[in-house]
Amino acid sequence: MQLSILLLAADRIAADALSVALARPGHGVTVVALPEELIRQAAGYSLVVLDEVLAPTVAAIITELRGAPATATVPVLAVAGSDSLDDRIALLEAGADDIITKPFDQVELEARIEALSLRFQRSRGGTARQAASIGDAQSRRVVTVFSPKGGVGTTTVATNLALLAAERHPNAVLIIDFDLAFGQVASHLNLQPKQSLLELIRDDSALHEAELFRTYAVHHASGVHLLAAPPTPGFAASVTGEHVDLVIARALEAYQIVVVDAGATLDERMLALFSRSDIVIVPVLPEIPALNAVHLLLDQLSETGAMGASTMFVLNNTFARELLRRSDIDNALGAQITADLPYDPFVYLKAANEGVPVVRSAPKSAPAEHFRKLASLVFGGAGTAVATPAAKERKGLFGRRG
Ligand SMILES: Nc1ncnc2c1ncn2[C@@H]1O[C@H](COP(=O)(O)OP(=O)(O)OP(=O)(O)O)[C@@H](O)[C@H]1O
Ligand SMILES: [Mg+2]
Repeated sequence: MQLSILLLAADRIAADALSVALARPGHGVTVVALPEELIRQAAGYSLVVLDEVLAPTVAAIITELRGAPATATVPVLAVAGSDSLDDRIALLEAGADDIITKPFDQVELEARIEALSLRFQRSRGGTARQAASIGDAQSRRVVTVFSPKGGVGTTTVATNLALLAAERHPNAVLIIDFDLAFGQVASHLNLQPKQSLLELIRDDSALHEAELFRTYAVHHASGVHLLAAPPTPGFAASVTGEHVDLVIARALEAYQIVVVDAGATLDERMLALFSRSDIVIVPVLPEIPALNAVHLLLDQLSETGAMGASTMFVLNNTFARELLRRSDIDNALGAQITADLPYDPFVYLKAANEGVPVVRSAPKSAPAEHFRKLASLVFGGAGTAVATPAAKERKGLFGRRG
């Protein structure tokens, strides 16, 4: 395996020694001296190595790399100048994917690089467990948020993403609450829908005609339309996999972007949904047993071919302290985390209680900032219009703007 490595090293002499060591197994090495150069050039490299860079700078570099689709999945190896435990922890907390300490052994360096790039290839690879097919954000239209565990932020992620999508495409974004028994999207948006999926599935013409289909959605001030979950859990069973297929097909005709809250119950209806999704976002908590469970489930889903969409893992820090290293989380999950949400004791809860998602109620907060980053990974960068020619025609047809 030959890699192209981009090395950031401020000290020229140290850089020479390190680049010789990196190049010895046959890898190509390019050296830059400034973080800005590294960020400008990183796209296309298979590994970034940071030589004795301080943790805050490492954190800033990794934020930039992860925020841009072209560099979001490039692994980062930090070379620590000493084996101080505090320094190594600081580097891991800054987001480095692995660390090696000077003086290192050539064999160890090669083994770590090989393991790191294999791990990233696997999580990026062609299987269902792709950490993200970040490059083709423009084509992403059905974005499903699902977690095998409840209470991990699924609805919070789905509602905030939908609101951000509607900033660019008012009245062309539909959020569907497929958490059939306990769906709370309406409550997160402070909406009181008079109709829901229940009435829709009883109206065969609306299941077959996009204009009629749209009349079942309730409109939010943000420009998001909501197709709400059935009013009580008892009706959940009346929705079938075939209904799911029809609903998604009509939603795609009537809207440009479809965000789905798929809740936490895995059944054949959700499998129908996954097979129609372009991306499945899985929020996870920093908790090893829960991460192991997600790992096992997704392995099984991809083996049976049920998870056809690419998967993006979002680490939701619902605890006050970060107790786990990112590398332990990635190992337990068997894939790489694509984005994370910071802990906040107040803004999420207030948003949920008042029915105004964080990106609207606290747009300058750290959680809102992280949601924006996630949205640009999912829907494309700030300047990237998701619009396609077909979508423009559709806008003309319906003519409604927020
Ligand atoms: N990072 C976080 N820090 C603090 N609180 C959070 C965080 N993320 C979500 N919450 C809060 O956790 C609660 C659960 O979130 P949410 O309803 O989005 O989860 P869910 O997975 O949809 O749950 P359910 O399984 O009940 O549908 C909400 O009160 C939310 O405000
Ligand atoms: Mg929920």
